[in-house]
Amino acid sequence: MDVGADLAERLAAVDEVERRALAAIAGARDMQELERVRVEQLGKKGAVSQLLRQMGSLPPDLRPAFGRRANEARRVVEEALERRRRELAAAEKQRRLEAETVDVTLPGRPVRLGRRHPLRRVELEIIEIFRGMGFTVAEGPEVEYDYYNFEALNIPPDHPARDMHDTFYLTDRILLRTHTSPVQVRYMRSKAPELPVRIIAPGRVYRRDDDATHSPMFHQVEGLLVDRGISFAHLKGTLAEFARRMFGERTRYRFRPSYFPFTEPSAEMDVSCPICDGDGCRTCGGTGWIEILGSGMVHPAVLREGGYDPEEVTGFAFGMGPERIAMIKYGIDDLRLFFQNDLRFLRQFA
Ligand code: FA5
Ligand code: MG
Repeated sequence: MDVGADLAERLAAVDEVERRALAAIAGARDMQELERVRVEQLGKKGAVSQLLRQMGSLPPDLRPAFGRRANEARRVVEEALERRRRELAAAEKQRRLEAETVDVTLPGRPVRLGRRHPLRRVELEIIEIFRGMGFTVAEGPEVEYDYYNFEALNIPPDHPARDMHDTFYLTDRILLRTHTSPVQVRYMRSKAPELPVRIIAPGRVYRRDDDATHSPMFHQVEGLLVDRGISFAHLKGTLAEFARRMFGERTRYRFRPSYFPFTEPSAEMDVSCPICDGDGCRTCGGTGWIEILGSGMVHPAVLREGGYDPEEVTGFAFGMGPERIAMIKYGIDDLRLFFQNDLRFLRQFA
């Protein structure tokens, strides 16, 4: 074989390698395929790299022309690879953008708005009514001393009235308050001898109780008014006005004589049962009435504990249950519903 024919043949072989490499590059459909092609062509043992390897074994007079052509083929293949790489990158970016596209015509996903718990709504309503009558809000601790919960309220250690409040004790002398009445003495002590004392004290209380109208944790709103010349007529007038504003003119209410060691005389207030409209049902225990509060004229011993002189001032106090009031207002027959947090129940109080 003469040198010219040999060179022509070898250059044709380079053409063929280049043609196959370009075809493989054009056929690569994604980055992984393209990388595979790059290794097949330009890797250590790649077809294009092999061309340049052959140089050493060529007759010296063929080397310059073959070398030029082989190097050119490598450059052409490298450039084609880079072009294809950019094309594929652009196409992939385009696909990603299309996948991310926001369809602004789709209906929005509704965001559910939270709302106030029915008990909190009722508590705020009670506060508003009494604020309108000049009362201010006071607070006291839920973990309380036996002293404030009982002794300062004229309930000595062995008094049978302690049975009215089945108590959660934490230590000998510390308990979960069974009512909001301890705030009465705490507040009077912080104010005496200022007059008038006119507060309501909302908050949680705890008793070992559990049925349709009694829950182990429930709420009360305490009320206390102390001044010169306060009588039972003030108590009745205040609570009757409260009932009218809370329940409207149509709901009936009544005062019933009662007993609390910290008031004398004492009365409980009932409201006609909304479930049976007074006929008697499970919710009202068949009586047609639901008790919403205890009340009375502040006992002289309690005024004295609070730092006031019972010869000079008198006062009335009450403690009402927002759970009972919410049951009446919304016609709910089981108080435990308030604490189960079933959204189907809670969403009804818009
Ligand atoms: C008292 O707790 C007195 N401290 C009220 C008081 C205050 C009287 C000031 C005089 C002066 P009683 O235990 O009756 O009283 O509770 C008052 C109100 O809390 C009840 O009328 C009722 O509405 C509510 N209540 C009582 N126990 C429960 C309970 N387990 N679950 C839900 N509500 C309750
Ligand atoms: Mg009672």
